[in-house]
Amino acid sequence: MSTVALITGAASGIGAAVARRLSAGGVKCVLVDMDGEGAERLAKELDGAWLAADVSTEEASLEAVALAEQRYGRLDLVHLNAGISGRVDLADFDLARYRKVVGVNMDGVVFGVRATMPLLLRSGGGAIVVTSSLAGLAAFSGDPIYTMTKHAVVGLVRALAEPLAAQNVRIGAVCPGFTDTPLVADAREMFVNAGFPLLNVEDVAAAVESAFYAETPGTLLIVQPGRQPVPYRYAGVPGPAGGQRPPRQD
Ligand SMILES: NC(=O)c1ccc[n+]([C@@H]2O[C@H](COP(=O)([O-])OP(=O)(O)OC[C@H]3O[C@@H](n4cnc5c(N)ncnc54)[C@H](O)[C@@H]3O)[C@@H](O)[C@H]2O)c1
Repeated sequence: MSTVALITGAASGIGAAVARRLSAGGVKCVLVDMDGEGAERLAKELDGAWLAADVSTEEASLEAVALAEQRYGRLDLVHLNAGISGRVDLADFDLARYRKVVGVNMDGVVFGVRATMPLLLRSGGGAIVVTSSLAGLAAFSGDPIYTMTKHAVVGLVRALAEPLAAQNVRIGAVCPGFTDTPLVADAREMFVNAGFPLLNVEDVAAAVESAFYAETPGTLLIVQPGRQPVPYRYAGVPGPAGGQRPPRQD
């Protein structure tokens, strides 16, 4: 029986590279993207399934899961990867753009987890990897709203790690640095002129694949040019001075 993966933002960049990598390893892929033409083209190349949908709507994730079940009967790996840059100026605020960025980068991940869990469980468990960013761990002053959304999904992954692991679903994230995709096309020349190395999508795809199989739930893999992916470690926070621990709330 083949492993089945669902990948959002699969028509371009990191998502397409993940689909190609998994497919080369015999995984059946369900490709979800707003760019239906791009998703269809890649699905033909990989003999996969595709769906043109906007992940900021809950229906998109539900339809994608229905497609995976109808076409392949199961789901094992989920890559919640669709994302857009922020470019929201807090002084000259564009509310529609703000809602859009939050809708894709945060709601898309929440809806993706919610919609895929039942089929992952019916398939005996599996793994979810979210594409966060280095901007999910560090302050990227060039794009504060993007930074907020990428931190938010890291928080979600960390908080869900234990409860999902108890159901045999591992959740983790990759946090890549600047990667050579259409998302950073406008800034590409600036990076090249500054001699700053960009990641290539194949390196990020390899990190995503290893994140699917990371032993520790909630692993956040930092991906940087020329380095092996490395799990991020938080310093922890001080508790009350008396050393008490909070009661469990589950
Ligand atoms: N490129 C980078 O430097 C970089 C670095 C760190 C993290 N990331 C993250 O990686 C992920 C993939 O980005 P990329 O660099 O491959 O960019 P990309 O623009 O090449 O690919 C993103 C894909 O997502 C799709 N998409 C956008 N909005 C969507 C929506 N609402 N519903 C469905 N599909 C949608 C686009 O059509 C596109 O095919 C994003 O979450 C991005 O934030 C990128």
